[in-house]
Amino acid sequence: MEIIKSKFLTSNTDYRKCPEPNLNEYAFIGRSNVGKSSLINMLTNNKSIAKISSTPGKTQTINHFIINNNWYLVDLPGYGYAKCSKKLRASFKQMIEQYILKRQNLVNLFVLIDSRHDAQNIDIEFMNWLGNKNIPFGIIFTKSDKLGVNVLDNKLDQYKKSLLEYWETLPPIFVSSAVKKTGKKEILDYIGDLNKKINVN
Ligand code: GTP
Ligand code: MG
Repeated sequence: MEIIKSKFLTSNTDYRKCPEPNLNEYAFIGRSNVGKSSLINMLTNNKSIAKISSTPGKTQTINHFIINNNWYLVDLPGYGYAKCSKKLRASFKQMIEQYILKRQNLVNLFVLIDSRHDAQNIDIEFMNWLGNKNIPFGIIFTKSDKLGVNVLDNKLDQYKKSLLEYWETLPPIFVSSAVKKTGKKEILDYIGDLNKKINVN
């Protein structure tokens, strides 16, 4: 699938104020600084449609973009951002959880993981929670340009093994680099296939 048109719509802190849930929706989530906003810019061929920053905690709202006038793409705040107050962290957690559980048109969530990292509790716990709540998701390993091919392959194998300690099957897995623009076709084709199968209207 090709993205021909992308437009920023709204920023919200409450899922109830998000755009009418009448189009298929795909959201990107993961720890702060993992590269969610950069990936959205890469997918949409737009350098600045989503705001990026080298400082974690940049995205603080639920941001809707409309793609090809046909589906929504959503940039979410990161989880596990340690440098903000406990109260703020709790309110982000609440906002994200409510969005994920209550947004009727959410077709699939993409959980982003930094390719360089070993499996970490915060991500595993989050994905186990998604599994328990029956939320469909795929994993995108980001910043793959930061590793050589062999190291990357080893890291991915290790990560898959860690996941299989919890699950019998693996979710769909993608590898991306916003710098080298890799992973774009695979991710967009996956969304395109889901759009053919599912129509929330
Ligand atoms: P929050 O909104 O703070 O949760 O962060 P985010 O997950 O949206 O990350 P963002 O896209 O803002 O990127 C964080 C930093 O990582 C920026 O300095 C980006 O330039 C860098 N970055 C993102 N993706 C890649 C990538 O694929 N490769 C490399 N080398 N750097 C990347
Ligand atoms: Mg962001």
